[in-house]
Amino acid sequence: MSSNNIDSALIENRQFPPASEFTDRARIKQADFDRLHQQASDDYVGFWAEQARSMLDWQTPFNDVLDDSKAPHFKWFADGTLNVSYNCLDRHLASKADKTAIIFEGEKGDTRHITYQQLTDEVSQFANALKAKGIEKGDRVVIYMPMIPEAVVAMQACARIGAIHSVVFGGFSAESLRDRINDASAKMLITADGGNRGGKIVELKSACDKAMAGGCPSIEHVIVCQRTQHDIPMQEGRDTWWHDAIKGQSSECAPVWVESEHPLFLLYTSGSTGKPKGIQHASGGYLLGAVMTNLWVFDLQDNDIFWCTADVGWITGHTYVAYGPLAAGGTLLMYEGAPTVPDAGRFWRICETHRVSIFYTAPTAIRALMKLGDDLPNNYDLSSIRLLGTVGEPINPEAWMWYHKVIGREHCPIVDTWWQTETGANMIAPLPGVIATKPGSCTIPLPGIAADVVDENGNSITEANKGGYLVITKPFPSMLRTIWGDDQRYVETYWPKFDGKYYLAGDSARRDADGYFWIMGRIDDVLNVSGHRLGTMEVESALVAHERVAEAAVVGRPDDIKGEAIFAYVVLRGTRPPDGIDEELTKELRNWVGEQIGPIAKPDNIRYADNLPKTRSGKIMRRLLRNIACGEDITSDTSTLENEDILLQLQGKS
Ligand code: PRX
Repeated sequence: MSSNNIDSALIENRQFPPASEFTDRARIKQADFDRLHQQASDDYVGFWAEQARSMLDWQTPFNDVLDDSKAPHFKWFADGTLNVSYNCLDRHLASKADKTAIIFEGEKGDTRHITYQQLTDEVSQFANALKAKGIEKGDRVVIYMPMIPEAVVAMQACARIGAIHSVVFGGFSAESLRDRINDASAKMLITADGGNRGGKIVELKSACDKAMAGGCPSIEHVIVCQRTQHDIPMQEGRDTWWHDAIKGQSSECAPVWVESEHPLFLLYTSGSTGKPKGIQHASGGYLLGAVMTNLWVFDLQDNDIFWCTADVGWITGHTYVAYGPLAAGGTLLMYEGAPTVPDAGRFWRICETHRVSIFYTAPTAIRALMKLGDDLPNNYDLSSIRLLGTVGEPINPEAWMWYHKVIGREHCPIVDTWWQTETGANMIAPLPGVIATKPGSCTIPLPGIAADVVDENGNSITEANKGGYLVITKPFPSMLRTIWGDDQRYVETYWPKFDGKYYLAGDSARRDADGYFWIMGRIDDVLNVSGHRLGTMEVESALVAHERVAEAAVVGRPDDIKGEAIFAYVVLRGTRPPDGIDEELTKELRNWVGEQIGPIAKPDNIRYADNLPKTRSGKIMRRLLRNIACGEDITSDTSTLENEDILLQLQGKS
């Protein structure tokens, strides 16, 4: 951990207790909260058993709550069986068949309201179409779709028949898609002709064609949903239109009951190597985390309209779009497009039009919209909003205050939710009717979540505001089960320290005198760009795959909007461009990285050098590269550098 990660510069003292108008109708009140915390500390396993029994419908009730005999490969509710799609759909039909499950708004303004009954029918019909194409329990299905209801239908349909989906964000490139398909050995790919975003068509099908041209031997069928209706080639025998695939299929499909530990999905995320890891989640434990946090943290109630702006390609879009709100019987909103189309008031117009009551987004979006001033949101009636949420990176107090004042009109609690792809659901977050919030803090762990901040030796840090490693000291149901196909990497990545006793989140954090957690950033080589995780190694591997690049090192530098921006140092084959500037090549390399990974990975800066700063043993001194990228003076000892002279060149001084 670098030293500047350990000590925190700023102590924020403002506190915002929930207003009584919120608390009075909140699901969890102070007494409930105290009871839940007490229960979790008196009987941890019993606490989780009770939540799982009360919040989920089981086909076969479980007796084994937690099996830790093969730690860190934990099992939860292992002898129980259930079906995730049944829990999200069928179980609500008796009381909510005509309730709206999904409100959809396309970027061009088209809208759809889908009831629980309609969604159940659509999911069942599509599940039958999957079966007709030979998909069975345990098969992997990759979903590469725009933010349209069919994406949720596809995910739920997989869950209904026990197939394991892996959603790949539509902004990832053909190369990234291919790698993920191949790592999962997926049998089927579900996509669309395109999606509407930023006034343009996102060419999803052509990216699929390109991925498959590069070799995806496991794919047998491609199903293509018609969204944009522009011309795309369809390959005979391999590609089927969605509307043709469901033709003649019944809208009844019995759910396949699966063991609680049966994998529900894989979701690839970046780590500190060049290869993204397929985070594997289990059915029962994951769904419990999803439904519990939708009810407790988002206080989701029957008449709420819940809008989580995340794409289903990220974990947030899984837990707070595709699964959690439905499992809780709520109404969710899905928006297809960009926040700036036709203008930057789009989010607020959607909130006004559809009477959104719970709004959950990322700090990067809040900062971007804040920069545009208060007039835009002030033009809209945001009085339906009663709760706000944020996720993905630490939110700076200035953005928090703007969110609170201008969007929340000073009466909405803000739930700052810390969690990860790996944890499946919110972990450290305020229960909004109980916990006073502080701008920039995710407050305290949820009942049943044992989070701690520890030092190098695994000892809990009790001193206020002293930073350390953020760890989870007890297994919890919604945690990842492994990395797909790589148990060893799972153990080495998440349980490497402290005798394998604690789950290592990869973040540093501190606790203040009230025990509130403040996340301070990653401790590994993972960047957080606009709330999305990217490994520095991934970007480096993409750069060195270019014929002109010999070596590359990538670091993050702070950015006002994106949180972190990507700064790349590149050593070319042959000579360095005069004065280290070559705009043409920079453009080419940025596009190249965009093609290799996706536009979010394009470096913001590229600096050319004759060499990188290395120790005598050849290790790149990233700390120095970070200093330079941030425009900071280099004050630390550079005597272990083999090539000290290179620093001047890297700083652009020679
Ligand atoms: O560094 C933390 C940051 O995002 C990481 C997890 O990224 P990902 O798996 O892509 O999931 C993002 C959505 C859950 C964490 O290790 N992070 C997430 N939420 C917060 C956060 N940092 C500070 N505050 C948060 N609320």
